[in-house]
Amino acid sequence: MCGIIGYSGILDAKDVLLDGLTSLEYRGYDSCGICIFDENNKFHIIKNIGKVESLRPLVNKEFPPTLSSHSGMGHTRWATHGGVSSENAHPHKAGKVFLIHNGIIENYSELKSQYKLDNKLQSETDTEIVAYVLDYLYNKQNFDPLKSIRELTQLIVGTYSFLICFEDKPGSIYAVRKVSPLVCATSLSGSFLASDLTALIPYTKTFSVVDENTIIEINPTGIISYDLNTLQKTELKQETITWDIDSAKKGGFEHFMMKEIHEQPTAIDNTIRPRITNDGLINFFDDGIEDNSIFKNINKIQIVACGTALHAGTVGARLFQSKILIPIETYIASEYRYQNTLVDDKTLVIIISQSGETVDSLSSLKKAKAENAKTISIVNVKGSSIARESDCVLYTHAGPEIAVASTKAYTVQVALIYLLFCHIAFVRDRVDESFVKKFTKNLYDTIPILQNLLQNKNQIKQVAKYISKSNDAFYIGRSLDYVFSLEGALKLKEVSYIHTEAYAAGELKHGTIALIEDGTPVICVCTQKDVSKKFLSNVEEVKARNAFVILIITEGIEYNKSISDICITIPKINDDFSVFPVAVITQLIAYYVAYAKKLDIDKPRNLAKSVTVE
Ligand code: G6P
Repeated sequence: MCGIIGYSGILDAKDVLLDGLTSLEYRGYDSCGICIFDENNKFHIIKNIGKVESLRPLVNKEFPPTLSSHSGMGHTRWATHGGVSSENAHPHKAGKVFLIHNGIIENYSELKSQYKLDNKLQSETDTEIVAYVLDYLYNKQNFDPLKSIRELTQLIVGTYSFLICFEDKPGSIYAVRKVSPLVCATSLSGSFLASDLTALIPYTKTFSVVDENTIIEINPTGIISYDLNTLQKTELKQETITWDIDSAKKGGFEHFMMKEIHEQPTAIDNTIRPRITNDGLINFFDDGIEDNSIFKNINKIQIVACGTALHAGTVGARLFQSKILIPIETYIASEYRYQNTLVDDKTLVIIISQSGETVDSLSSLKKAKAENAKTISIVNVKGSSIARESDCVLYTHAGPEIAVASTKAYTVQVALIYLLFCHIAFVRDRVDESFVKKFTKNLYDTIPILQNLLQNKNQIKQVAKYISKSNDAFYIGRSLDYVFSLEGALKLKEVSYIHTEAYAAGELKHGTIALIEDGTPVICVCTQKDVSKKFLSNVEEVKARNAFVILIITEGIEYNKSISDICITIPKINDDFSVFPVAVITQLIAYYVAYAKKLDIDKPRNLAKSVTVE
């Protein structure tokens, strides 16, 4: 979590840092701070609790237009060690060292006693301890930044991406990382370091991922990369940013979440089209998979992910296990890491991650590789750690997803896992060409259905008004509809703070139905015809307990009109593809409930988009 940015160049550093922090704010937004060298090489640290917008006036006060600055670094925090306070906000200063940090230092308490820091610390953070240790090493190493940073990395245990300035080296910013992400870039306007690409899009089209075995220095003349062990200069490998600047802006929408909901038809099209041939068959040639042996010599598939990405994988697993006819297991990444999951060289492990940086998913990938599994990742962010570590990467083409609640990333992940599994079923002779052609056609056909849904949102606004007045809500469904409900409930609770649970409808009467009271909203998802009769009986059961029933049902499924208080129909669609319209409807419900409650939709409390701590 946490977003970090460093800049050195010809632009006004305070503007670059504040704008960069605004772009990175979705990574954490408890507090923020910057430190900058002014034109007289004097350092200023300005930090505050709250969001970047509240820091701006403080920076402008300290930096009148007459005082210029061309280098500095900034941080937006998601609190781990130490509560939300301006003392705990970064940057931290110790002696000549200024430091900002994304990650967690595990041996902070040992370092604190070893370096006798008890009476020096102003904050409760692990980061300030590291700043003091580094200052000690900097003095010991005769003010040599590289040697002292190298020694620091030998002493600390944990995950980090650090940006470091030294009071006597104005204009230079140093960086080193382990696990936590960091990219760097240089352009005519200067050199940059940042947690991710979103902060760089306005300035450049090329970037480099900072390697774990390097120290990076940026200064007004460019970027220098040093080998962490030898301290010799090394080459940086450049990659190209495919996102454009407009994709990281709101484009006329009030919130990123609504913009991203609307981008889904295009994002799905961008993701599936490069993998579907003109005659409707599937291949992954452009992803570097020409030989299909990776799909043939396996006897088990494991999908590992967190949050929404896990729900996307679960949809794919539920639909395709019966077609591929080998076990497809799904795992929560933070649990997978500590389980014996019986992996061997005949296991295909698929990691799904929008950011490509979720630390539990990344560690699961490393574990699976160590156990000889074949690995494929489905990732949205190019060059991210998970993409780089896996044997093969299939990129979703959703563009940057800025709202913390994931929307378009979910539907493109489902679309891509559908294509992948359909391809695996074909390669393993479980389905024939005509099945594949029909499948890809159905997938394309969902796109206009979503476009239509997005033009008719009024009914959903009404539903949302009702839900916004409740403290609790439930989603229920059977079979695939249950899996869709898991994501619907997650979306609603994370942006509206309404306690929402998703239940398999048949399981409801084993306890949870006790929670249904007069008027409790129950969102009932009914798109799977084979189980619709049984499901609708479960809806009758909640209605009989006076629930307020919101039924989401596919046109053509017969039902007793009196069981629902509000009915949202989705156009006729093959049951296997109803995930897409259901996703859009449930995302809109969540959005409008949060809107009615006047909440911070794009940055819900306590959350962060990219979870880089365990
Ligand atoms: C966080 C985000 C979720 C996301 C999950 C996994 O919790 O708020 O939206 O689904 O992490 O993230 P990933 O980047 O691995 O898909």
